[in-house]
Parts: sequence; structure tokens; C-alpha cells
Amino acid sequence: MEKIVTRVIAVANQKGGVGKTTTVVNLAAALSKTRHTVLVIDLDPQANATTGLGLSPQKGVSLYPCLIGEQQIADMIQPTAYENLNIIPSEVNLSGCEIDLAQRPDRLQVVRNVLQAIRDAGVFDYILLDCPPSLGILMTSTLAAADGILVPMQAEYYALEGLSVMQDLIARLKANGANPALELNGILMTMVNSNTRLAQDVIAEVREHFGDKVYETMIPRNVRTTEAPSYGQPVVFYDPSCRGSEAYRAFAKEFAKRNPTRGEAAVAVRAETPAQEPAVTNQEEAGDDKVS
Ligand SMILES: Nc1ncnc2c1ncn2[C@@H]1O[C@H](COP(=O)(O)OP(=O)(O)OP(=O)(O)O)[C@@H](O)[C@H]1O
Ligand SMILES: [Mg+2]
Repeated sequence: MEKIVTRVIAVANQKGGVGKTTTVVNLAAALSKTRHTVLVIDLDPQANATTGLGLSPQKGVSLYPCLIGEQQIADMIQPTAYENLNIIPSEVNLSGCEIDLAQRPDRLQVVRNVLQAIRDAGVFDYILLDCPPSLGILMTSTLAAADGILVPMQAEYYALEGLSVMQDLIARLKANGANPALELNGILMTMVNSNTRLAQDVIAEVREHFGDKVYETMIPRNVRTTEAPSYGQPVVFYDPSCRGSEAYRAFAKEFAKRNPTRGEAAVAVRAETPAQEPAVTNQEEAGDDKVS
């Protein structure tokens, strides 16, 4: 079988309601339809990605028991109703993680260490991490585990501020050795209402600052996209022909092209990333992980 280079992408923005979960669910769904193997990990105790993919949160089934060493990650992977699309759901316990992790000297490496087994297995093209709108220890550890951060962003005032927080976080995680290879994977403009002047101005500004880090595809504001989660379905399956579905399919195509996981292109991308430095275990250095 063809070797897969698994790519771990955290979908994050500390700003709430910008389309993180909608992007995870629909990117995952669209990628799975084009025969990519995908694992979604829901890290938000709100469990929106879990319910959005048709599952109910279940006590004891999440990344949480793996983080505290009580379960193997492979045992937490749940199938969804869709081929090639799997999920590690969220549960409310996940919010207790902050306290459990706070005392641990290896806290920045916990998520990375837990994910290593599924990376090594090489069965998933993509692991998509749905992050909560916060910057706690779990979130920081999650970013320390990722190859790249995808930032969904709404075209509105203050959007750039949120982005600079993410950039600062990436710089710190690189500098303190927690994740030297971390990169901004890209920026996705969401809920775009392109006929407003404000949206046009903000999009132009973001493109000016971030150039080709901004994905060409933009996701329009679309009613069917808002409705789909209440049916426990990604919009790309709920109503494949609506504008939201079209946009997420186009985005998945662009995303897959930019982030190859198979063949020579994938190996070349991997070779570009520097080797991992030793994990941060020193208490003093590890103290730099809380980014306000
Ligand atoms: N393209 C879109 N068109 C219309 N509504 C959308 C679109 N994308 C997302 N929404 C709606 O906007 C709301 C916020 O989206 P979503 O839950 O994906 O954001 P989030 O960043 O994950 O939020 P949180 O920070 O709370 O986790 C939801 O009600 C969702 O259905
Ligand atoms: Mg969310």
C-alpha cells in the first residue's frame, strides 16, 4: 500500500464563532469524498464537531483518557456514517484537562506524544483538530502537536488582531523548542458576504499582509451551511449542491493540493521541515507556555 505522510492540522482562532468547527467538519467530509482518509479530533468541550458529524458525546470517549494515560488513542477512534471519515469525539470532561495538565512538566508535549502512534501508523492522510475558542494549556499543547495551523477568519473589523495573536503563539512555540517546525498553514475567509464594502476591504488587507498564505477559496455566508449541524450532517452531504458545499469542496481541493500526503510531493514537503528538537521538560522553560 502507498505510504501516507499524515499531516496534522489544527484549526484554530481564539476568536469565537468564526467558522472553525464548520470548517473542520466540512473540510473533513469533502476530503473523505475524494478518498482521503481523515481523522477529526474534537478538542472543544462544546462538542460541536462531534454532533455536527452525527455522534453524541459519550463519557469516557475522547482524547481525555489518552492524555491522562488511561486509554490507547486507537481505542478512542470512532467511525462516522461516512466512509474514510473518523472522529475522536469530545466530552465535557475535556475541560478538566486544564487542571490535570497544569502540574505536568511535559504538558506541552502531551498531545504530540499521544498522537505519535497514529502518525506512525500512516493510515490517515489528515488529522484535523477542532480547537476551542480559548488559549489554555490543552490548546497550547495541541498547537505544539500540529504541523500547521489553519485559521478561519471572518471579514470584519478586529479580525486581524486575532490573527496577530495566532502568529505570536506560533513564534513562541517555535522559539521555545516546543514545536520548531510549526507553521501557519493558511488563512480561510469564512462567512463572506462579498457584496459589502467592509468585507472587500478586510479581505484586501488580509491578502496584502499574508499573501499566498490566504487560501484562494472563500466560504460564502450560506443558510444551508447553518442548518446542516442541526441534522448532524456536514453541509457537503446534507445539501451537496448549495453554495456552501461547493465552496467547501473547492477549498478541500486547494487544501489537498497545498498539503500533499502521498507520493514524492509529500516526502518533499516533509523533508523541508527541520528535525524535532528535544522536548521541553525543564520547568522554567516550560513556564513560557501560557500565552495571553
Ligand atoms: N458559511 C457559513 N454561512 C452561514 N453560517 C455559517 C457559516 N459558517 C459557519 N456558520 C455558522 O456560524 C456559527 C459559528 O460557526 P462555528 O461553530 O463553525 O464557529 P466556531 O469558530 O467553531 O465557533 P466556536 O468558537 O464557538 O467554537 C454556527 O452557527 C455556524 O452554523
Ligand atoms: Mg467550534
